[in-house]
Amino acid sequence: MSRTQYAIGNWKMNGARADLSEIDAIAAARAEVPRIQTVMCLPATLLASVTAELSLGGQDCHPAIQGAHTGDISASMLADAGASSVILGHSERRTDHGEASELVAEKVQAAWAAGLNAILCIGETEAQYRAHETMSVLQDQLTRSVPDGANAENTIIAYEPVWAIGTGLTPTPNEIETVHLAIRDALPDPAMSILYGGSVKPSNAAEIFALSNVDGALVGGASLKATDFIPIMRALEESFS
Ligand code: PGA
Repeated sequence: MSRTQYAIGNWKMNGARADLSEIDAIAAARAEVPRIQTVMCLPATLLASVTAELSLGGQDCHPAIQGAHTGDISASMLADAGASSVILGHSERRTDHGEASELVAEKVQAAWAAGLNAILCIGETEAQYRAHETMSVLQDQLTRSVPDGANAENTIIAYEPVWAIGTGLTPTPNEIETVHLAIRDALPDPAMSILYGGSVKPSNAAEIFALSNVDGALVGGASLKATDFIPIMRALEESFS
């Protein structure tokens, strides 16, 4: 398997400095999983407080380098605080802040310009899933939010069905594999890693990681506690054998 395999945690709007002991425990477990990349995407307030040896990410950035944008954060600020990646186009941003794919594409370019790896999220809603529109929705999101120049060095795709995020529901393994294969066909670089996200937990991780076009996971709720996230890291490492 030559594509990079990633276990990426997304703390969303959770966590304070007192919770960084979880990050220390996750960092300590990396020695057990040498073949995978572990990245923790934390609230921006926490990035600079992390002392453990671990790749860090932000959860959003503004498309501009700097300027009069009260409350926003730039990609270079994330890099300055210790991030090497940033999640962009998460469905919670698309829904809560009305982010369109064109804006997401601008943010991806801002991330690249600051030297950050873009973790670009796409996914269909439950209504679109029920209407069998998944592939047309994903194709449209890819066309409009993946800028020219995307490759395996600068961009990771995360397929996150909106109806699977935080709900405990997941597509069947067959559905996940079918969608990932179609995404791979639509990408400019077949070596790009495609992660699955949405209710990944220790009990379902091995089954999902066994799928040949799944290159890891973007994990929300189960990344908050090291005791949940470390078994997911191990399941990904074991998927190599
Ligand atoms: P979840 O969130 O693992 O809590 O479903 C995943 C995500 O939103 O990235």
